[in-house]
Amino acid sequence: MNLVEIRGLSKKFGNNVVLDNVDLDIKKGEVVAIIGPSGTGKSTLLRCLNLLEKPEAGSVKFNDKTFNLTTKNKKEKLELRQHTEMVFQQFNLFKNKDALSNVMEGLTVVKKIPKEEARKKALEEIEKVGMSDRLYHYPKHLSGGQQQRVAIARALALEPELLLMDEPTSALDPELVNEVLLTIKRVAKEGNTILLVTHEMNFVKSVANRIIFLENGKIVADGTPKEIFENPTNERLKTFLSNINMLESADNYII
Ligand SMILES: Nc1ncnc2c1ncn2[C@@H]1O[C@H](COP(=O)(O)OP(=O)(O)OP(=O)(O)O)[C@@H](O)[C@H]1O
Ligand SMILES: [Mg+2]
Repeated sequence: MNLVEIRGLSKKFGNNVVLDNVDLDIKKGEVVAIIGPSGTGKSTLLRCLNLLEKPEAGSVKFNDKTFNLTTKNKKEKLELRQHTEMVFQQFNLFKNKDALSNVMEGLTVVKKIPKEEARKKALEEIEKVGMSDRLYHYPKHLSGGQQQRVAIARALALEPELLLMDEPTSALDPELVNEVLLTIKRVAKEGNTILLVTHEMNFVKSVANRIIFLENGKIVADGTPKEIFENPTNERLKTFLSNINMLESADNYII
């Protein structure tokens, strides 16, 4: 059964059509990676689901309830926002709060959970991302990888049905990428449903059940990693992948 059903999602910036009537179904526990050229609407798709952008049209159904993504109704917006959490490229932690308070914030403020209970839940999630020894550190005293792990704990503490991740490792120094990728792998293994944008193709191969290739605001390929990487049928996908391979081989040549 589908956990999420996105229908007719369209978004323009001025005359620039960024998402063109996108439909997408996601099953519970699926890890769906969105790949595609720069500027093709990957971030916009995630942002529309979390109401960070307002599309021209579109709806999303979670379980049995359908939400209009263009709604102006505050109550409906609040309810919809509780179905998803976003992990951003730039971590977006509260700078004036330590790691523990960052994870507790949504629990106490949004979910109105009593402080002691929120603290317990936050400690559990922080433990899972291996950050228990940094509870009282402020973001500026954490590495990028550590900040991102706290951001992942913060998102998971709110138990979203769908976790949205937009290039969660691309702002990190190369030596910090792995710790975050391992954390995401663990989160995926635990059965969380994830919609992830990333340029890390090897990671995509090892973590995603399904890959979507987005180009010019349309899903032009949708398949398993094997189908997408080993047997691409779409010409534009083939070109995209061969460009990546060309870059990889150029790197190898220089080394
Ligand atoms: N707030 C905005 N105002 C105007 N145009 C925007 C805005 N946000 C995005 N765009 C445009 O929408 C298009 C899609 O942008 P988006 O950020 O979704 O692409 P992307 O696929 O995530 O690219 P990248 O791989 O570089 O992150 C681009 O042409 C971009 O310039
Ligand atoms: Mg983007």
